[in-house]
Amino acid sequence: MYTKRLEGPRRGRSFDSVNSCLEEKHLNNEINKSNFCKIEENKDIKENCNESTEKGRGAVVFSLKNEVGGLVKALKLFQEKHVNLVHIESRKSKRRSSEFEIFLDTDSNSEQLNEIIQILKSHVNVLPLSPPDNQCAPGVDIEITPWFPKKISDIDKCANRVLMYGSDLDADHPGFKDNVYRKRREYFADLAMDYKHPSAIDFTEEVKTWGTVFCELTKLYPTHACREYLKNLPLLTKYCGYREDNIPQLEDVSRFLKERSGFTIRPVAGFLAPRDFLAGLAFRVFHCTQYVRHSSAPLYTPEPDTCHELLGHVPLFAEPSFAQFSQEIGLASLGASDEAVQKLATCYFFTVEFGLCKQEEQLRAYGAGLLSSASELKYALSGNAKVKPFDPKVTCKQECLITTYQDVYFLSESFEEAKEKMREFAKTIKRPFSVRYNPYTQSVEVLKDTKSITKVVKELRQELDIVSDALSRINNDLGI
Ligand SMILES: [Fe+2]
Repeated sequence: MYTKRLEGPRRGRSFDSVNSCLEEKHLNNEINKSNFCKIEENKDIKENCNESTEKGRGAVVFSLKNEVGGLVKALKLFQEKHVNLVHIESRKSKRRSSEFEIFLDTDSNSEQLNEIIQILKSHVNVLPLSPPDNQCAPGVDIEITPWFPKKISDIDKCANRVLMYGSDLDADHPGFKDNVYRKRREYFADLAMDYKHPSAIDFTEEVKTWGTVFCELTKLYPTHACREYLKNLPLLTKYCGYREDNIPQLEDVSRFLKERSGFTIRPVAGFLAPRDFLAGLAFRVFHCTQYVRHSSAPLYTPEPDTCHELLGHVPLFAEPSFAQFSQEIGLASLGASDEAVQKLATCYFFTVEFGLCKQEEQLRAYGAGLLSSASELKYALSGNAKVKPFDPKVTCKQECLITTYQDVYFLSESFEEAKEKMREFAKTIKRPFSVRYNPYTQSVEVLKDTKSITKVVKELRQELDIVSDALSRINNDLGI
């Protein structure tokens, strides 16, 4: 974690000026090897310019064994990353007499420093550092926070961290022995890995497979899909070419979604880790596969394919309330622990992928896993499947099944209700800050000190002014 301070002195801070907390922890023997704190100051922030260049200052303290060359090795890391050291101090460790503690004040942005700290930690003890000026709320724990994207371009850093992709298929995959299919998968994977802008794809043999899936599922939708889905599907036919004989282009679909709910689509070569996938949702970015399942088994796919994405997910992502719900899961995941991310991913799985709702006293599906699988869709709504109310505290412990139907499905009364429940659940996730999405800059604001919170309050006041003005105009019209 780090805190910000405007216009600090150019000269570096020192051990004495910044780490009373460190002292205390030393005395209490509370130092945790994995803890650290970065401090940023002198941030070159231009008001009204939300480009987070994060050009600032950061400090780090680490301890070294008293051996020749240790400090040189550590400093070399900073040199390699082109980080300028503003101030260096060393002193004998009060914790271990055989060690020295080094304080470095740097001219670096938070990202650079974070990167160096991660490398440093494998060689030395990086120690916690107190924030300056007590800008953090009292009681805020300063702990390691996993990296997360702060602006939409940061997603480039995780979009290609796929776990499996291209022609790398399991032996039991229907296309495992089909060299033509594997070549085609490689082509789709390369497109996603080199993604800059959506490009049109010339689908060939895939169209027949898509057509089979499309026909089978569209027969079921009127009686099985939720009303939001049924409202949006005809729009997708009209504006994006959702037809039996045409696989819609992601560019068209992305443009449509952007207008409807602010979601955009980004092609992905294969599976993303839950943390990376959920981080995309925080920015209303949906990572979407572009390959089509193997033609030998059009009604079965062992992995998400474009039929699943386009028929299962897209009609719901076009719905603003659902888009909001999905984004909230993503925002809750940013900087959360691995355990918390796993819980959120499980909630995502039993809602966005396999969620049910009740409309006009009828069970309906809104989960993409169901809406893209004719057989499981029928089963989930057959009356034979176990259905429980969606409760994130309970749902997050349910086992996610990949190759069989789910043991249990979770029911939400509405997306609004699901969102409220997720919001309450997200508050229980340990994280020493809150985040807020800024749609103007497509960036995430980290709310962790009085300055960042004051900025939000100011913006909310402006919004409330608009509401108040609108109400007074209505009152005037009514003569009240
Ligand atoms: Fe999915």
